[in-house]
Amino acid sequence: MIVDQKPVMLTVAEKTVHTAVYTTLFFDFAIDFRPGQFVMVWLPGIDEKPYSLSYHSPTRFGITIEAKGLFSRRAADLSPGDFVGIRGPFGNGFDIISSPHTAVVAGGCGMAPLAPLVERLHPDLFFVHGARTREFILFPDRFAANRHITTDDGSLGHKGMVTDLLAAEIRRRADQGAPPFDRVYACGPEVMMHAVFTLCDAHGIPCQVSLERYMRCGFGVCGACVCSDQVVCKDGPVFDSKQLKKMPDFNRTALLKSGHAVPLSEYVSWRCL
Ligand SMILES: Cc1cc2nc3c(=O)[nH]c(=O)nc-3n(C[C@H](O)[C@H](O)[C@H](O)COP(=O)(O)OP(=O)(O)OC[C@H]3O[C@@H](n4cnc5c(N)ncnc54)[C@H](O)[C@@H]3O)c2cc1C
Ligand code: FES
Repeated sequence: MIVDQKPVMLTVAEKTVHTAVYTTLFFDFAIDFRPGQFVMVWLPGIDEKPYSLSYHSPTRFGITIEAKGLFSRRAADLSPGDFVGIRGPFGNGFDIISSPHTAVVAGGCGMAPLAPLVERLHPDLFFVHGARTREFILFPDRFAANRHITTDDGSLGHKGMVTDLLAAEIRRRADQGAPPFDRVYACGPEVMMHAVFTLCDAHGIPCQVSLERYMRCGFGVCGACVCSDQVVCKDGPVFDSKQLKKMPDFNRTALLKSGHAVPLSEYVSWRCL
């Protein structure tokens, strides 16, 4: 465990450039970890931001960065040997139910926190991954589990939304008398997670989603990341259906860096997603 408030300076041990937008940085460091938890990543003189652990072993962990704005481009440009400040891990992580009747729904870079989860779940899970185009499908060859791909433009897999495939599978199971899903896990754009939550709720299936909010401290003291009465960095980032039902700000409102509350669409365009 890394001391919460004080970053430990680690050197990048290895770097994998997956595509023009996705890069993974690996650190040879032991860290206690539950899938869904994140670390605060500090680039001295630039900023500090949260990143999910996308790889974990007893001696090594990795973070996968989608290069978008100033910070993420600088982080993706780091090389082996460069120093990075790390605090964490923070957050609650996912509850793991290892049953063949679970589903995982990933959208774009939402695959990053879900990847170590998938590796701990039953291999017969129903696994859907969507992205804008084939270039945005992260870790295309990583998993033993069969993955159903969707893209907005049809450049890979099914042309359409991840929720189309999830809805079809929920229907198929009901029609054929197969066991329903015990649990659906999701991470991706908030509008997608809300659609998954609504679909699951309509069928009485519990789901867990990992929310993203602007974060400053990472451990519950600054208030930058609140969503309704939940502190996303500490109470989350993973929330279940029961909690989401009591969070009117889910898929509706988020705070900017200034602390000003805005509609989610404005927050999302600010975050450059
Ligand atoms: C729990 C958690 C886990 C995460 N895990 C991952 C992960 O695994 N991988 C990943 O890629 N990302 C992850 N993120 C997102 C990550 O923390 C960064 O937000 C993301 O990488 C974008 O950073 P950036 O440097 O590209 O953008 P920023 O530098 O934040 O800029 C984004 C855009 O906002 C603009 N902007 C910046 N500040 C302001 C301001 N004050 N007012 C108006 N506009 C402004 C910028 O000009 C730019 O256009 C996670 C976030 C959370 C909360
Ligand atoms: S980031 Fe400070 S309270 Fe969550």
